[in-house]
Amino acid sequence: MLEVRNVHAYYGRSHVLYGVTLTAREGEVVSLLGRNGAGKSTTLKAIMGLVEVTEGEIGFQGRSLRGLPTHEISRLGIGLVPEDRRIFADLTVVENLVVGERDGRGGGAWTLDRVFTLFPKLRELGARRGGSLSGGEQQMLTIARTLMTSPRLLLLDEPSEGLAPVVVRALGEGITQLRRQGLTIVLSEQNVKFARRLADRAYIIEKGQIKFEGSIGQLDADESIRRSYLSV
Ligand SMILES: Nc1ncnc2c1ncn2[C@@H]1O[C@H](COP(=O)(O)OP(=O)(O)OP(=O)(O)O)[C@@H](O)[C@H]1O
Ligand SMILES: [Mg+2]
Repeated sequence: MLEVRNVHAYYGRSHVLYGVTLTAREGEVVSLLGRNGAGKSTTLKAIMGLVEVTEGEIGFQGRSLRGLPTHEISRLGIGLVPEDRRIFADLTVVENLVVGERDGRGGGAWTLDRVFTLFPKLRELGARRGGSLSGGEQQMLTIARTLMTSPRLLLLDEPSEGLAPVVVRALGEGITQLRRQGLTIVLSEQNVKFARRLADRAYIIEKGQIKFEGSIGQLDADESIRRSYLSV
């Protein structure tokens, strides 16, 4: 479904991605692991067209995404949940959700009711202003808002970052449900414990290069890889 091949990217003159290759098959949850500054967010931004791909290719359902504007990539069915929870602080939870609402393209359209089933907490908070929510509630709202665009592929950028364990658990349950519903997900994380429970396969990125690719079982079995590239 998603094929990232040999992608290079820069910020100004600084070379940040050095030939990143990764794939996600339909219905798969793939985790992109790596330390601070490894290139996780840049990889997701490159897929979303927020960072220019200077070399390499990105294919999605057989189409090339390279050079397409972000709104076009979004329309094709990719939703990014950025790491800096960008909600509208002055709008209510419900208003935040309906802003992004869009008819689904085959994947089944998302509705308010459906996101409230996924994150029941949000239903209770419906009339509250976004800015008054806790960090975990804002994270759920950010994910829910992206789901309202009815994506076929969800890119989650470090969703568990900075959240209390009990909130991380609720978030994990939500992502597990999404996975059961067959949504394809690329999950960027530093929290290996969180990611390994949710993902089918993992990639490790370090200094803009993929250093490991394998199943969660293979990652578990390889302590030296985890020691070298992850903070565990
Ligand atoms: N807007 C920017 N301008 C210049 N350099 C940047 C910018 N954003 C990121 N970088 C640099 O690009 C490299 C990759 O950053 P990226 O944000 O992709 O890492 P990350 O794996 O998402 O890290 P984190 O876990 O901290 O979110 C880092 O060296 C970072 O300092
Ligand atoms: Mg990041």
